[in-house]
Amino acid sequence: MQALESKISTAGRVLGSDILKVDSFLNHQIDPELMWAMGQDFAQHFAQAGITKVLTVESSGIAPAVMTGLALNVPVVFARKSKSRILAEEAYLADVYSYTKESQQTIRVDQRFLSKNDRLLLIDDFLANGQALLGLKSLADQAGATIVGTGIVIEKSFQPGRQAAAKAGLNNIYSLARIAAFENGQVVFDQTAAE
Ligand code: G4P
Repeated sequence: MQALESKISTAGRVLGSDILKVDSFLNHQIDPELMWAMGQDFAQHFAQAGITKVLTVESSGIAPAVMTGLALNVPVVFARKSKSRILAEEAYLADVYSYTKESQQTIRVDQRFLSKNDRLLLIDDFLANGQALLGLKSLADQAGATIVGTGIVIEKSFQPGRQAAAKAGLNNIYSLARIAAFENGQVVFDQTAAE
């Protein structure tokens, strides 16, 4: 997606060899216009898939997921990372290891919000190692829901996330920007883009 690639080039900052900081427009301060355009792009791509719900994980997945849900006119569910005192006991749980944060977290969704009749679109901000996606897939599987596709804002295609997801059966992954490498502090986009 051209507008996203331009924003990454002008406002993103490369940290070390493998991290892109996008907190000025994606995951701390948010550019609503760009976020809405991304939601519309995801919605258009998956328009024929019969999606009943969008599923993401807090916190950075929520903004693109809400825009996508708005464009598709379907509800959005986000997996929580912290156990709420008022969250019902009946929750689907999955353990997610974050390589970036070097920690393991349990994500959870109240069983009332996912069902075997759902056709889910998974949305997340980054695809790096794929652990978040595997956790979301586990939640969907426990509910007996069908995953019809996955939308990613920024995929780092030099990391193993896509392969890990494919191995687990997540094949229909559509990324708005794919990054092939970071070279001398600059982002090199993978121009085989999209899917
Ligand atoms: P995964 O996202 O594919 O599972 O890979 P990984 O375990 O490496 O990522 C762990 C967390 O780090 C995720 O956020 C992911 O979005 C984020 N992340 C991965 N690569 C980058 C990057 O290059 N830049 C930035 N800014 N974040 C990256 P999270 O733990 O779910 O946190 P959040 O959603 O609460 O922000």
